[in-house]
Amino acid sequence: MAELPPIRRLHVVGGTEIEGLVDVLVDCVEGGASVGFMLPLSRERAREFWSGVADAVGRLERALLVAEDADGICGTVQLILAQPDNQPHRADLSKMLVHSRARRRGLGAALMRAAEEMAVDCGKTLLVLDAVTDADAYRLYSRLGWVRVGDVPDFALWPGGGLCATTVFYKRLTPL
Ligand SMILES: CC(C)(COP(=O)(O)OP(=O)(O)OC[C@H]1O[C@@H](n2cnc3c(N)ncnc32)[C@H](O)[C@@H]1OP(=O)(O)O)[C@@H](O)C(=O)NCCC(=O)NCCS
Repeated sequence: MAELPPIRRLHVVGGTEIEGLVDVLVDCVEGGASVGFMLPLSRERAREFWSGVADAVGRLERALLVAEDADGICGTVQLILAQPDNQPHRADLSKMLVHSRARRRGLGAALMRAAEEMAVDCGKTLLVLDAVTDADAYRLYSRLGWVRVGDVPDFALWPGGGLCATTVFYKRLTPL
């Protein structure tokens, strides 16, 4: 079996990394993923999003992982570390994205495991996320032991329009 692309945490997100992250986000949205954006998604709009993430990483409000293959960044996931004062032990897991060229080889699962380890390293003991009900990522999270809280109907739009339901999941982590 081919080896998975290596995964690393980015503490500083520069212009080259932003362009790679733009590639992944545009690929996912053009492929129909409901991840916060509508079609058509311009590179400029995607760049604006990732520049904001880069700033948040610099302020330690977010923690960002990327996977890279020979063509550049092919997967990413992030933790939103900055939470209200009464939830310091918690993070939101967000923007789990694997480029279509790298899917169905276990990279999504590897990114999730790496994100959980990173969360423990950051002192977090509880992760929360939401995902389109019954879509690809929903199966991934269920498989990795995330607990399904429930579904919210008509939560968001598909990139091309039309409402979709979302499912909220959580996972408790074992502290170091
Ligand atoms: C959801 C997503 C992150 C999954 O990434 P991935 O790298 O394909 O994930 P995995 O490879 O770990 O698992 C995907 C499937 O491949 C299968 N698989 C894993 N390794 C495999 C291998 N070596 N050979 C064959 N199949 C394999 C898994 O069993 C899984 O099957 P299933 O979908 O039928 O349940 C990816 O599809 C994606 O980015 N989608 C668009 C963005 C999105 O929706 N993000 C989620 C936001 S909440």
